[in-house]
Amino acid sequence: LSSIRVDISGVAEGSQITVKWLGKPVFIRRRTPAEIEDARSVDVADLPDGIARNNNLSGDVPATDENRAMDEAGEWLVQMGVCTHLGCVPMGNAGDYAVEGGIGGWFCPCHGSHYDTSGRIRKGPAPENLPVPVAEFVDESTIKLG
Ligand code: FES
Repeated sequence: LSSIRVDISGVAEGSQITVKWLGKPVFIRRRTPAEIEDARSVDVADLPDGIARNNNLSGDVPATDENRAMDEAGEWLVQMGVCTHLGCVPMGNAGDYAVEGGIGGWFCPCHGSHYDTSGRIRKGPAPENLPVPVAEFVDESTIKLG
């Protein structure tokens, strides 16, 4: 498995970068306290896909935000930028949120799937949460994918 190192020192709170890994986009987002709070206030029982889809964890662990974020505080979220419906690249960033009843993290323009601030599917045809790839912090400002 080929791995890459990503410098995240320039990523401001409330923004994200997209990097290519194994030919696919990966979203690396530094979340705001409000985004983290939104993600953590959700009852897993209400989610269409109750599985974390985190390749760093074995087994079908529940889709709590704690089981998806990179760090304990939940500031960093790393996930594949590939819609689990038919593979379009969802659009990120809060601008789209307020419009759709406050779900918001990512919106897939192809057929209208909404993913929350933890990248979990909440509305629309996509069957699964955005997968979290194998990733780890190498140091404070570097994330290794793969
Ligand atoms: Fe994203 Fe269909 S590919 S909703």
